[in-house]
Amino acid sequence: MRKFWLGSGWKMHKTISESLSYAKYIKNYTINNKPSLSLFIVPPFTSLYVVSKTLQGTSILVGAQNMHWEDSGPYTGEISPLMIKDCGAEIVELGHSERRTLFGETDLMVNKKVLSALRNGIRPLICVGDTFTEKNISKAESFVENQLKIALQNVPKEYGSLIMIAYEPSWAIGIDGTAANPDYVNHMLSFIKDTLHKIFDDQVAELIPTLYGGSVNLQNASRYAEKPNIDGLFVGRASLEVKNFIEIIKSVESILV
Ligand code: PGA
Repeated sequence: MRKFWLGSGWKMHKTISESLSYAKYIKNYTINNKPSLSLFIVPPFTSLYVVSKTLQGTSILVGAQNMHWEDSGPYTGEISPLMIKDCGAEIVELGHSERRTLFGETDLMVNKKVLSALRNGIRPLICVGDTFTEKNISKAESFVENQLKIALQNVPKEYGSLIMIAYEPSWAIGIDGTAANPDYVNHMLSFIKDTLHKIFDDQVAELIPTLYGGSVNLQNASRYAEKPNIDGLFVGRASLEVKNFIEIIKSVESILV
């Protein structure tokens, strides 16, 4: 059975009470979800605990948007893997393009975070993706390949089954972004899968889901979900209203077995 991942990333949105209403609403809706669908929600740190508590006992996983690689220490303003785990996070989003471009996160930092997440039993959702510059000079593949190779450096293969990858080109994300063509995403995820086969062995690489994120909405979600290499979608803006996210869930579910 094909398993499909569908996540909602809230970025810097929602107070605790707004998060709580969202979590309560989605909890009631998702009781009868298809088992082939794996839902996850990635709230801001401040809402992580309440969202995890509210969704406890459901199949919806909760993730953090970032973390430091050390378990504790003199890192003012940072949040550690132990802290996000303590708040109920089972996933951590790492290397999102906003972290890379606005906050100077490098491939090496992403690698340290990936290793730390795995050591702590947290699933890293590693975001990779090209910018306009690489896309325009047809360097998207080599750019993403390099990001993947560095992010996954020294990862022991027994941790492979915890890893998730999201292809999120920065030109597709946000209010100024243009949703990538589903065939193009399918191609890029096939390339990413091939790269994972080179980094790990076939058995491990086949366990790693490859998702897409960037201007996914109700109109286009099922067109992505139909593509064989797209194992999931990570939705930003269009999922901030819980009712909209539920409509997206329904449209994806309608084409899942
Ligand atoms: P968007 O964000 O859906 O608002 O474009 C996606 C993302 O950054 O993951």
